[in-house]
Amino acid sequence: MNAKQVAGYRAAEFVKDGMTIGLGTGSTAYYAIEKIGEMVSGGLQVRAIATSSASEELAKKYNIPLISASEVDHLDLAIDGADEVNPQMELIKGGGGALLREKLVAMHSDKFIVIADSSKVVASLGQFKLPIEIVPFTYEWTLKLLRNRYDVPFEMRKNGDDLYVTDNGNYIVDAAFGVIESPATLAEELKAITGVVEHGLFVGITDTVIIGFEDGRTEINE
Ligand code: A5P
Repeated sequence: MNAKQVAGYRAAEFVKDGMTIGLGTGSTAYYAIEKIGEMVSGGLQVRAIATSSASEELAKKYNIPLISASEVDHLDLAIDGADEVNPQMELIKGGGGALLREKLVAMHSDKFIVIADSSKVVASLGQFKLPIEIVPFTYEWTLKLLRNRYDVPFEMRKNGDDLYVTDNGNYIVDAAFGVIESPATLAEELKAITGVVEHGLFVGITDTVIIGFEDGRTEINE
């Protein structure tokens, strides 16, 4: 087992019969979904909401029953990966572009478990470029606003020659902050900018972090 698999499989142990769950996105969440799929084929009853088209496809492949938000008013548990996690359990997410749905699902879950290999653990957030989801309409102006406000490199995310489009039909700007001194302050500031839909800073949302190691160990922080 690799470290991502170790973390993903360990998180699946938190899934109990009858739960409604949120399925994350990315190569670590993949393993949690795979394990939950195995558990479902063994008789576990769960219902799930996926945070991306990719995870939805995966859930279908593993016969994990999918529901929509209109069927439940909250989730019992959500499991998702992260691009960076600091000792305060604050995160940067959105490397895979699914940050908006991931944040919605995490916010509406009683328990949010983050799974990661040890390479994602950092002292301070910001080495990983912070994804910021912006609306396509007048995106050039939103980008200019961001550039005027923060003296750091901003780059529109691309998909080949085209701009990358999220599952919600928006664009992503990746911002190289370097070190983010106060994730909570930056999170609030970014949300206040018209044109910004969401950003990849997850502050005060995580309940549990499961770090997986290559030797099969896990470290659980709550
Ligand atoms: C998807 O948008 C992201 O938030 C992922 O959860 C994050 O990038 C972690 O992905 P990996 O597990 O593939 O590193």
